[in-house]
Order: sequence, then C-alpha cells, then structure tokens
Amino acid sequence: MELIITPDYNHLSQTAADMIAEAIKSKPDCVLGLATGSTPMGTYQELIRKYQQQQLDFSQVKTFNLDEYLGIGMDLSLPYSQDQSYARFMHEQLFSNINLKPENIHIPNGLAPDPDKHCQDYEKMIIEAGGIDLQLLGIGGNGHIAFNEPGSSLASRTRVHPLHAKTLEDNYEMFYKKAKVAKQNMPSFALTMGVGTILESRHAVMIVCGQNKAKACAEAIEGPITSKVTASALQLHPGKVTIILDESAASGLTWSLSLAKKG
Ligand code: PGA
Repeated sequence: MELIITPDYNHLSQTAADMIAEAIKSKPDCVLGLATGSTPMGTYQELIRKYQQQQLDFSQVKTFNLDEYLGIGMDLSLPYSQDQSYARFMHEQLFSNINLKPENIHIPNGLAPDPDKHCQDYEKMIIEAGGIDLQLLGIGGNGHIAFNEPGSSLASRTRVHPLHAKTLEDNYEMFYKKAKVAKQNMPSFALTMGVGTILESRHAVMIVCGQNKAKACAEAIEGPITSKVTASALQLHPGKVTIILDESAASGLTWSLSLAKKG
C-alpha cells in the first residue's frame, strides 16, 4: 500500500488527477472506475483542465461508476430526471466537460426495472471491458467504500444494498436541507459495486480529505481487516493500492506515517 500525504485539498486533487492522466497516457483505452461525493470534485476539475489544455484525450476511455441510489437515476436520452442522482453528478462534474463517448460511460441505473439483474449485468460489462485499470475511491465517515456499508461481505459483488444510519445522516444535508426532499423520500438503498469487485481493479486509488475522515482512514490503513470498515479490505488488494490523503485525514495515523511519501 502506497501512502501519499499532501498538504491540502488542491494538492490532493492534483496528485490524484496526475495519476489518472498517467493511466490514460500509458493506455489510451483504459477502463476507469469512478467515484462520486465531495472528495473527487477537485480531481475532476483538474482532469477537465488537463483536457481543455489538450493534455488528455478521453475518446477511447471507458468508465464504470461505483454506485447509484435505488429509485433515482438519469436516462441519458432524456433531460436530467432527478437532481441527486449520481448520474447527474457525474455529467455535471466531469462527463459534459470532456470527450468521453456516451456509450463508454457506465453508471448503475437506479431506475432499472430489475435492479438485481442489472447489478449482475453490470459485473459482466466490467469483465467484458477487460476489468478496471484504475479505480478511484472515497471513504465514508463509517469506513465504507462505495456503498459497502459496515457488515458488507468483503467478497461482495455489485448488488442492491441498504444504506447505513450514518450514511443516511450524511445524506440528510444533501437531500433534505439542499433539495427539500422529504425525509421519508430519501433513498435508503443503493446499487453498489461490491468489495470483491473493487478488489479486482488493477490499481485502487483512494482519496481522503478532512479531519472527519481521520478515524475511518486510520482504521482502514492500520486497523484489522474487518467488514465493519470495508475500506480495510484494501489491505487485501492483490494489485496496487495508493491512498492520497491531506494532512488532516492523515492525523489519526501512527506507525504507517513512516511509510508515507510527501505529495
Ligand atoms: P465524500 O464521500 O467524498 O462526500 O466525503 C465519500 C464516500 O462516502 O465514499
């Protein structure tokens, strides 16, 4: 596991974007696994900047997003359907600003008529694309990766999964306060890649920012491997794992600090 500690969010975003850019340059038709949430927004800004300055070409890249809320989503052939869908987030934050081909974009469809089958098909599509070369990840305050909430099997595959109370609390701000979605209408399930799916990526890159992630981050990196903190499964990753942190997120680390590089 490679740890890179950066002074702040801007450096973290730049380091992650440079890593993704390198992956695309060395394999122009690479398969990227992408994440949503507040942490990757700066990374996506930086990728857009590189694209606009003609340093990066996404025309052959394929993408697979980690997750989507059940019951909301976006049909790419229609106008945006629901504001909080991760599909919409991705289009606004990245896809509409770069030259990715729409047919190369994959996001679990929260509106799929048969979500269980859709999840199985999603796994097949990842395999057909040749597997994920670089998987970008965030970490939840409860240590989740994607929506693999505490208690998820570390061998899990893409599936429909209930959201943990802490995630619902974290979502309250976005759904209720910002978008006035009634509490009872906030999604309580998601379609998510499994921990096992994520562990099959060739290179997992987790980005972590802020003091509120320090505990979960220390548990994931230094703690025992446990389904209570699904990010700890990255310790089992057979390929390459890079964790890029800012100083606040790294503040809970002890012995592993001596292994970290400065970014
Ligand atoms: P955040 O979410 O980037 O909005 O903090 C990360 C996650 O829950 O995986």
